[in-house]
Amino acid sequence: MISMQTIIGGNWKMQLGIKESIQLAKTLVSSLQDLERVKIYVAPSFVALPEVATIIQNSPIKLAAQNMSEYESGAYTGEISPLWLKELGCEYVILGHSERRRILGESNELINKKVHNALKYGLKPILCIGESASERSSGKVKEVNARQLEKSLKDIDSDQIKNIIIAYEPVWAINSRGLNPTGEIVPATPKQAEEMHNFIQQWLVSAYGNIGKEIPLQYGGSVKPENAKDLLSISSIHGALVGGASLNSTDFVQIIRSI
Ligand code: PGA
Repeated sequence: MISMQTIIGGNWKMQLGIKESIQLAKTLVSSLQDLERVKIYVAPSFVALPEVATIIQNSPIKLAAQNMSEYESGAYTGEISPLWLKELGCEYVILGHSERRRILGESNELINKKVHNALKYGLKPILCIGESASERSSGKVKEVNARQLEKSLKDIDSDQIKNIIIAYEPVWAINSRGLNPTGEIVPATPKQAEEMHNFIQQWLVSAYGNIGKEIPLQYGGSVKPENAKDLLSISSIHGALVGGASLNSTDFVQIIRSI
């Protein structure tokens, strides 16, 4: 087994305004100065990126964007260029999140263009994949994830794949905190997550050879302080992409400290 530095990401979605993002970033910086074994990134909204970039610049926390355009520049109203994200100091960009796939209609083909564009401009894509509840109950879990990998990674070669993180995020496990405060949504069990992470790793090895074992795989979907340790102790789970619990500095720090 290749030992990998654990990567924990906070996806703030459209949950925090600029002032709240500044506050959270400041609290995280003061709580997470001494970390060496963990890579951390936060993904604020686009409008909060410049402020958060300044706050985290001398800390171990890296900056991620939640999305970007498949184009570099031009007449694309409302779009965000990878060049600007780079200029702001982003290291990562989340691509293909299930909320963008399902609510905003992003296809694997579009996501593939974005993956190529991100790499072209030196951003590391965090490529999200994952099946829905109905795809799981109809026994199509592996087929759906394999298709997403194959199409989203089309024409990505073995040099490029080294700069990509895959986040396995089963849609049924994603907790939309605020939308679902009753907490009915349950995370994948460590066993379910492990099964899929092993499958994804095998897929990557069959596509890229041994390099496939070096691609970091994050689990996402209702990661909380209570379940982080069990999930992160599995050898094919190299980190977590945290949504709801990353909005609370105590919870997020606890998840990181559970490693
Ligand atoms: P969650 O979100 O942790 O709130 O389930 C994860 C994600 O959407 O990346």
